[in-house]
Amino acid sequence: MQIRQSSPLIKIETDHTILCLEISESGQLINSYYGQKLINESEYRKINSLDKFVPGSDDLFNQRLAYVSSGSLNLMEPALSVTHWDGNNTTVLSYVSHNIKKYDENVSLTRIELKDDRYAFFVTLFYKCYAAEDVIEQWAEIRNEEKSAILLNKYASANITIQGNQFLLKSHYSGWGKEMRVDEHVLNHGLYTLDSKLGTRTNLLLSSSFMLSIDEEATETNGNVLAGSLAWSGNFRIDFERFDEYYLRITSGINNYASVYTLEQGEIFTCPSFIYTLSWRGKGQASRNLHAWAQKYQVAQGLSSRVTILNNWEATYFDFDEEKLASLIQNAKELGVDLFLLDDGWFGNKYPRNAANAALGDWIPNTEKLPNGLAALIEKANCEDIQFGLWLEPEMVSPKSVLYENHPDWVLKEPLLPEYYMRNQLVLDLTNPEVQEFIYQTVHGLLTTHPRIAFIKWDCNSLIYNVHSSFLANQNHLYIAYTKGFYHVLENLRKSHPEIPMMLCAGGGSRVDYGALKYFTEFWPSDNTNPYDRIFIQWEYSYYFPAITIDNHVTAMGTQPIKFKIDVAFMGKIGFDIRVNELNENDLLFAQQAVKTYGKIKNLIWYGSLYRLQDPYTHKIASLAYVNPVKDTALVLNYYMPTLFATTIAKPIKMQGLLPDAAYQVEELNTYPNTVSLFESGRIYSGDFLMKIGFNPQVDANRTSVVLLFKKV
Ligand code: DGJ
Repeated sequence: MQIRQSSPLIKIETDHTILCLEISESGQLINSYYGQKLINESEYRKINSLDKFVPGSDDLFNQRLAYVSSGSLNLMEPALSVTHWDGNNTTVLSYVSHNIKKYDENVSLTRIELKDDRYAFFVTLFYKCYAAEDVIEQWAEIRNEEKSAILLNKYASANITIQGNQFLLKSHYSGWGKEMRVDEHVLNHGLYTLDSKLGTRTNLLLSSSFMLSIDEEATETNGNVLAGSLAWSGNFRIDFERFDEYYLRITSGINNYASVYTLEQGEIFTCPSFIYTLSWRGKGQASRNLHAWAQKYQVAQGLSSRVTILNNWEATYFDFDEEKLASLIQNAKELGVDLFLLDDGWFGNKYPRNAANAALGDWIPNTEKLPNGLAALIEKANCEDIQFGLWLEPEMVSPKSVLYENHPDWVLKEPLLPEYYMRNQLVLDLTNPEVQEFIYQTVHGLLTTHPRIAFIKWDCNSLIYNVHSSFLANQNHLYIAYTKGFYHVLENLRKSHPEIPMMLCAGGGSRVDYGALKYFTEFWPSDNTNPYDRIFIQWEYSYYFPAITIDNHVTAMGTQPIKFKIDVAFMGKIGFDIRVNELNENDLLFAQQAVKTYGKIKNLIWYGSLYRLQDPYTHKIASLAYVNPVKDTALVLNYYMPTLFATTIAKPIKMQGLLPDAAYQVEELNTYPNTVSLFESGRIYSGDFLMKIGFNPQVDANRTSVVLLFKKV
């Protein structure tokens, strides 16, 4: 497409990447390049002339539109589809103006105003750049100044068009207990969509984060990779459309499914952010870009500390009383963790919560189980120098609850259909401000009455079935209004309680995205805590989310030794869901030492850079490293993974991220009582050697996990 002579070159720049935007002869905003920066600034202008599009030929028009609208010359999947006030379905957006605001040395925001020449219809595109992290956060604002309301049929946050010989998409599918399994395949011509229509816990089937290899299949260390993630906790939709042999367009935003949005005159619709980064050094670098960005700019308290937890869920399920909990608090003390977390089952009186079939919504302690209320437990914990945390499932209601009896209209359900229960519960109508206020007051009330509650686990165990709100006039707004209602509650909670750590959880790990992580400090990756399975689950989450956000608990699930379980939990934020009193003497001693060891090296895991050295799918030993910013210390976790597909050849494992010229001493950490480390103390290797030749972690069927510390001498 021809570029207008007078067109500005709008550069969305990070330290290593650039997204170039220019104006076509017909006035449209074109995304002429997204890739590595060129040495010679002036050459960006030459890129567009290489575009093979010939106007008026058989080539499809609009290959490189920066925000594709439907109805005019674009005949492919649009980012935007509008029915204007007069019923017209065509939208043509022309460039109006742009400006750039620099927040600081690292962050800037480019704002580009587009308008339809025939209508008072505006779109503003926002590109927020994080230079050092090579991350772009992009979103759109849609403004209706037409004569009356208009319909937004599709309203994506962003589209980007890239070129390549081949595109390989790595996406993730899940189910309860089987989160983040991998699909990786070549994208053929046509449309491929990752989406969710589930309403809540929207990652239950598919994840809204992905990695895309461009040209060749990327490895951890090599190849061009675009990693993307949509910061939205509701229904999402990410389209990948391959066309004209070497183009791929990614369109990402809220799912328009059952959600044609009526935009009133004068109203602005703000789309959620699509976060993306480009790496030409493989998937590892793409992950590190996302992690660095997330910890600094998105995750609640991303660079602060975290508490280690003993949770009672898998130790007691619903079967507990004050005495049992008191002894668990004692166990937390014995173990050396920071906090005791009281999970499901502590509430409900008319309908006690003794199983997953009642009381959600009745957030008052059960007087039989807890005759002295939460206060006594908190006091007990604090006396032992243990903090206290509480489980809640604030968006849900049990049909057997006082809340439901008092407010049957606060529930999402289609009035002419029978109620359909998932885990015996229904979803509250978060589109309704009264319900939002109830949820806010529930959490705020508990935190105010008990200011020493030091942690919240926020669960969510149902999808939205028979979708209907008795509050909303327009049912097409339900999915969006629900998610906005959820954010509204969280926004208010964060205003009143900015510091409290909160875990995002959803019947396992079906709810994690960067929209929610703005409010949550961490998330529960899966109810599957079998350490073998966990290695894969945690491995895959690690592509998108930093270790500090991933809650890895040691439980009774799996027959592996406790050493293996704990070493696996070291991949993120460690916690426990075990009956400490059932551990034998050595296991207890080991667990106590491991908590202390974790305390010493946690900064490497929480704030270091992650390098996945050897994957658990094809290698007998899975290995990953966390290297601190100055690269003088690295923690390396190694696990024995004797799967059917693993190669039996155990070559040395090559380190990454060290200083080649520095010398590192290797030490084994976290050894089980009375075992001798196979690592001779004092062995020293250069970073160069470790990265080119490698190391042997001495992992085998008898030493199934080995934790190593490389320290610069
Ligand atoms: C599902 C969560 O994933 C579990 O950890 C636990 O909190 C249960 N809900 C409680 O009902």
